[in-house]
Order: sequence, then structure tokens, then C-alpha cells
Amino acid sequence: GKYRVVSTKPMPGTRWINLLIEQDCRVEICTQKKTILSVEDIIALIGDKCDGVIGQLTEDWGETLFAALSRAGGKAFSNMAVGYNNVDVNAANKYGIAVGNTPGVLTETTAELAASLSLAAARRIVEADEFMRAGLYDGWLPNLFKSPILLFFPDRFVGNLLKGQTVGVIGAGRIGSAYARMMQVILLSKSPDVVFSSILGTYGQFLKANGEQPVTWKRASSMDEVLREADVISLHPVLDKTTYHLINKERLATMKKEAILVNCSRGPVIDEVALVEHLKQNPMFRVGLDVFEDEPYMKPGLSEMKNAIVVPHIASASKWTREGMATLAALNVLGKIKGYPIWGNPNQVEPFLNENAQPPA
Ligand code: GLV
Ligand code: GLV
Repeated sequence: GKYRVVSTKPMPGTRWINLLIEQDCRVEICTQKKTILSVEDIIALIGDKCDGVIGQLTEDWGETLFAALSRAGGKAFSNMAVGYNNVDVNAANKYGIAVGNTPGVLTETTAELAASLSLAAARRIVEADEFMRAGLYDGWLPNLFKSPILLFFPDRFVGNLLKGQTVGVIGAGRIGSAYARMMQVILLSKSPDVVFSSILGTYGQFLKANGEQPVTWKRASSMDEVLREADVISLHPVLDKTTYHLINKERLATMKKEAILVNCSRGPVIDEVALVEHLKQNPMFRVGLDVFEDEPYMKPGLSEMKNAIVVPHIASASKWTREGMATLAALNVLGKIKGYPIWGNPNQVEPFLNENAQPPA
């Protein structure tokens, strides 16, 4: 191959590799098992000659890495993610390196996980599963009373009925809009049961662009209205300085005591220490979390909370989506290297789309 393209992690499927190989690229895939590659690890991968890199959201793509990539003759970097809070796009631009991300292919898959977490939290499915596996459903309570327990406890794992409840979406872009559409079906809700707050100004535009029926929604006057009124709230903002700790101690206190909060965006959108405290104080408040402030770690206490469901950043993890993300990431890099108008940089991100966004009221 004439060009050298590096992927910092193995990615699913073979389509992305074949695309690159067919177009004169030699593909090198880092197979280190470390969860997070350090800047030094990645500099070693880039080496002396590297035309483009496909990287991951766990890596810190700042000045140092773009300088190294530029020294190696690199022209393109693609995150294999829609979120790019780990990428300093201005630094990339400074070194003449184009940046791509992978939107679109993960919209429905991510929204489906947010909907799954909403339902799982409402019906306490994970707690009930643990109970079942622990052998507590039939037989004897082993260490407690040594007395038979009833098979069916009318008050066991009682959760929330979602029908007719109010859903709040914070960040009504592609994923938030898809989530709302799904939840509207589950909840059989009519406007104004779906409450929206778009802090990104992308309200509804993506669903309409796809020719899909927009959900009947009410646009809330402020995020605080959503937090106050909704029974189920799902977070879908971009992480930037305006959304860091968007959900903090004060805002948690304004939410309903039995509300469900779901986060499939980025961990630092929630002040996780404040969340753990809130979960302790409010046993009926439940959360479904796909992302964490210090990913891959959880803040102390979170893993002991029965009213929290935690999963390891799997929102985009359907086969179709993950292969699609890998393919888009390869196309981003290839388009820039080859200068193909047909591939171009369909997903080239604009620097700091939200730089001018106002902090929510
Ligand atoms: C995953 O978190 C992504 O941003 O694609
Ligand atoms: C519960 O299983 C019921 O039949 O009500």
C-alpha cells in the first residue's frame, strides 16, 4: 500500500479494512488490550510515516498527537464515534489535519439503549434478575429467617407504569429525537406529554430530514421545566463546557422523587458524586447509566446502589451500527487522503459547533 492508515483499536467487520486496502492503503491495527491508550502509546503507533488515523473516544486527541501526526505526513483523523469531546478540532486544523466523526449510523441504536434503560429502570429488571439468580425466588431465605417465602409477593419489585407519563429529553438532536419517537409509542403519549428542551438548537431537524413523522412534542421553556415536570428524563447533549455537570446537586433536587434519569451521552454531563448522594437519599429515584464521569471507573458508592443500572458504554453496540461506524471512519480518512470528491469528508465535523451555545437557563 502507498498509504499507511492506523487504527488504534480493532473494529468490527471487515468492510472498513477492505475499503482501505482496495484503495492502496496499508492498514495497521493496534491490538493492545489496554482500555485507554496513552498519548505516548499513540505517538509510537503513528511512527515516522502515517497518512491517517482512526481513533477512539477514550483517547486524548490534542495538540501533541496532531503535531506528531503532522510530522508523520498525516492528513486525516477520524474518531470512531459521533461525540468528539476528546478531539481538539482547532489543534487539528492548525496542523492541516481534517477531523471526521461517525454520526447517523448510531442514532437508532443509541436511542434504543436509552429506551431500554428507561424501561429497565421503571420495572426494576436488573434488581429482579439479581434476585432470581441468587435463588431467592423459591425455597428458603438462606441466612435470614429460615422460613419459607411465598412465591409471589404482591409488593416485590413494584416499579412505575410509564403509560401516560411525561418524558423529558435534554438535547433534542438526532438521538434525542429518535428516543422521543420510541418513547412516545411506549407511553402512548400525546402532546404535551413529551417535553423537550433543545439546548443545541437542532430541534427536530434530523427527523424531518429523514422524512419521518416528527413526534408531537412540547418544547419546554427551559431545562428546569423539563427536570421539574418529567417522569422519565433522557440526556442527549453534546459534552462541552456548557454541558459539563449540567445535572448537578441543585438540579437533581428539583426532579420528582420517583423520576427516572437516563444518560447515554457523556459521563461528565452529570455530577456523579452528587448523583450517588441523591440516589442514597431517594431510594425511589432511579437511573440508567451508559457513561461515567471517570470512565471506565465509577464514583465511590455507585456500584452499591440498587436504584442504579450501569452498563459499560454500549449504547452504539449493535452489529449493524458498529460496523457502520467503522466504515464511516475509514471513509472519512480515505476521502481526505485520496481527495475523492465522492467520499470527500461527509462527516467532517465543524469546529466546536457549540462554542457559542448559551448555558441552559
Ligand atoms: C459514542 O459514545 C459515540 O460518541 O459515538
Ligand atoms: C400476575 O401474574 C397476575 O396474574 O396478576
